[in-house]
Amino acid sequence: MERLRDRRVLVTGAGSGIGRATTLRLLEEGAQVVAADVKGLDDLPGSVPLTMDVADEDSVATGVASAIDTLGGLDVLVNAAGILLASHTHETSLELWNRVLAVNLTGTFLVTRAALPALLASEHGVVVNFSSTSASFAHPYMAAYCASKGGIQAFTHSLALEYSKQGLRAVSIAPGSVKSGITDSAASWLPRDVDFSLFGRLLPILPTDHTTEVGNPVAGPETVAGVVAMLASDDGKFITGTEIRIDGGTHT
Ligand SMILES: NC(=O)c1ccc[n+]([C@@H]2O[C@H](COP(=O)([O-])OP(=O)(O)OC[C@H]3O[C@@H](n4cnc5c(N)ncnc54)[C@H](O)[C@@H]3O)[C@@H](O)[C@H]2O)c1
Repeated sequence: MERLRDRRVLVTGAGSGIGRATTLRLLEEGAQVVAADVKGLDDLPGSVPLTMDVADEDSVATGVASAIDTLGGLDVLVNAAGILLASHTHETSLELWNRVLAVNLTGTFLVTRAALPALLASEHGVVVNFSSTSASFAHPYMAAYCASKGGIQAFTHSLALEYSKQGLRAVSIAPGSVKSGITDSAASWLPRDVDFSLFGRLLPILPTDHTTEVGNPVAGPETVAGVVAMLASDDGKFITGTEIRIDGGTHT
């Protein structure tokens, strides 16, 4: 299936997890992809690697301009870069709070702002942002992360309406638990006195193929990549201003 033949795509956070799986899937479907990450990328054959820090305004200005130049325009932006830092809310430093907001929420804004003129010049402009089930359903120890993801959802709604007459679509994906760098490193970001009983409502009801390093059932990142491909293609042409939850029924 080559639904994305010749579509020009920029994926952020392409070095790991969902961003990486998405890059591979979009390439498989015929897209031309610039794969961006804050860390070096050299194992995504077929894509053009780009080092870009989404939280840094200058890095984004240079990086997005170079992606548009390389691709000769832009049809699809996938804002998958993100971090999860967690702690008890009463112990959360302003530094942690600001860092999470800077990468997840401000990073999504900065990259989108820089990409918008090219996306609006395209006949197939789509922005796919990464929210999370934590934007709508309670997750413990993650107040900064949840707030950033709620912000991304609201940002995406605004974008969808503001540019609807120009044909631009904007959609958030809200994954539940998906195998990635973030979920695999949970042992390093959970508080030492974590109360796992608070996570009971976050378990998927469908069977999954993977577990995290702390043993929770999670889906593979390719389950999300396939949905991004659908949204990026004309199969998603009447979908905008909404979130798509991919969580194995966690919050059913
Ligand atoms: N994995 C899950 O269960 C889950 C659930 C809900 C939402 N999400 C969201 O999905 C997206 C992808 O995350 P993932 O789970 O694949 O994690 P991941 O850690 O595997 O991948 C995130 C990537 O973002 C990159 N990144 C981090 N800071 C960056 C910056 N400043 N500039 C550019 N790149 C940066 C990292 O280097 C990494 O390659 C994130 O927005 C995350 O919040 C993931």
